[in-house]
Amino acid sequence: MSQQECAKRRRAVMDRIGPHGVAIVPSAPHRLRNHDVHYPYRQDSDFQYLTGFPEPEALAVLAPGRPEGQYILFCRDRDPERETWEGRRAGQAGAQENFGADQALPISQLDEWMPKILNGREQVHHSLGQQSWLDKKLIGWLTTLRGQSRRGVRAPPEVVSLDPVLHEMRLFKSDVEIGYMQHASDISAAAHRRAMQACKPGVTEYQLAAEIHHEYERNGLTWAYGSIVGGGSNACILHYVENADVLKDGDLVLIDAGGEWQGYCADITRTFPVNGRYTSTQKAVYEVVLAAQLAAIDMCQIGRHWNQPHEAAVRVLTEGLVTLGLLKGEPAELVEKEAYRRFYMHSTGHWLGMDVHDVGAYKLNDQWRVFEPGMVLTVEPGLYITPADDIDERFWNIGIRIEDDVLITAEGPRILTSQAPKQIAEIEALMRA
Ligand code: GLY
Ligand code: MN
Ligand code: MN
Repeated sequence: MSQQECAKRRRAVMDRIGPHGVAIVPSAPHRLRNHDVHYPYRQDSDFQYLTGFPEPEALAVLAPGRPEGQYILFCRDRDPERETWEGRRAGQAGAQENFGADQALPISQLDEWMPKILNGREQVHHSLGQQSWLDKKLIGWLTTLRGQSRRGVRAPPEVVSLDPVLHEMRLFKSDVEIGYMQHASDISAAAHRRAMQACKPGVTEYQLAAEIHHEYERNGLTWAYGSIVGGGSNACILHYVENADVLKDGDLVLIDAGGEWQGYCADITRTFPVNGRYTSTQKAVYEVVLAAQLAAIDMCQIGRHWNQPHEAAVRVLTEGLVTLGLLKGEPAELVEKEAYRRFYMHSTGHWLGMDVHDVGAYKLNDQWRVFEPGMVLTVEPGLYITPADDIDERFWNIGIRIEDDVLITAEGPRILTSQAPKQIAEIEALMRA
């Protein structure tokens, strides 16, 4: 993570909260998995965005205009013995030298320092309800200050969320961030190609997941979210993560997997035949989903609003469902009645960035947000056909989703994940190779 970028972001936050505000942002806690075993540590996205500091047990404080330093980083002390067991720590000297802190203080001294830092400010910007230890601490510091009012000390009268400021900033990706996302997308696309090439009847879902993860890890990426590898009917379970079954001849397999690079995510779904050849029925459904996806991507233009890709996808999917004989009636009326929801029950995308379902408002003043350059979203229509008496058996258990990551630019939609093939002919050719 570029330290220059982090410094720019801190300055922007300080400009927005103004000279009377103060912001506090905690690092992610370490989480226990089971006795003596922790989950791999993943830094909190907001904290990472502002600090680039990789450690737990840290608190960033932005206090515009504070003479002793505007950016204060509370962090763990150096501790040679603990570091021998658990890994290196920056300590306060490292926080200043390598992470741009104006002042670095031991996390153990929060209670001594925070009332002084908060004293006299008008607003504390803090996202309540995320880390209860910090909510409690903040209430304690404010109570301490209120108890000293006769000495001229003044507790900030307002606690306001930092989210609107920070998340609005995170919604617009800089060139550096787009570079990270492009790299995450390129490696993730390579991972999907690798899975396509490794696939044949008898291979298991977890073996394809292993191909995906191998490609991430040999390139220094981690997964951005739990990989979904669903063969046959498992493709109709939207968050299927067991990845435990054997892949069967004649079935499709849906893979929804994306890697993370420098804290930035890719999110790709491809659906391909286990044996390398789509059947005519699979092809027919696939072409409907693909046409819906292309129509939705076409709506990712400056000036269009958030819901237009979804509206385009729903229209094309509904027309396709009528052509396939899965819905009966007038497409426009069926869209109105949301008849497609039986086969398409999720939305067409989400913002993408440091979090796979990234932050950022979808509506402003109750109106869908209009696309602007630098926004990144996913476009991921699908059709999921579970067995039912009124559905021709040849469609049963077909689950198809096609998902790409799209950057809004002045030149139109830029597909970051275009290296993952999605045309039927391309996929079949790759699987034959
Ligand atoms: N992989 C999560 C999603 O597609 O939203
Ligand atoms: Mn997605
Ligand atoms: Mn996905």
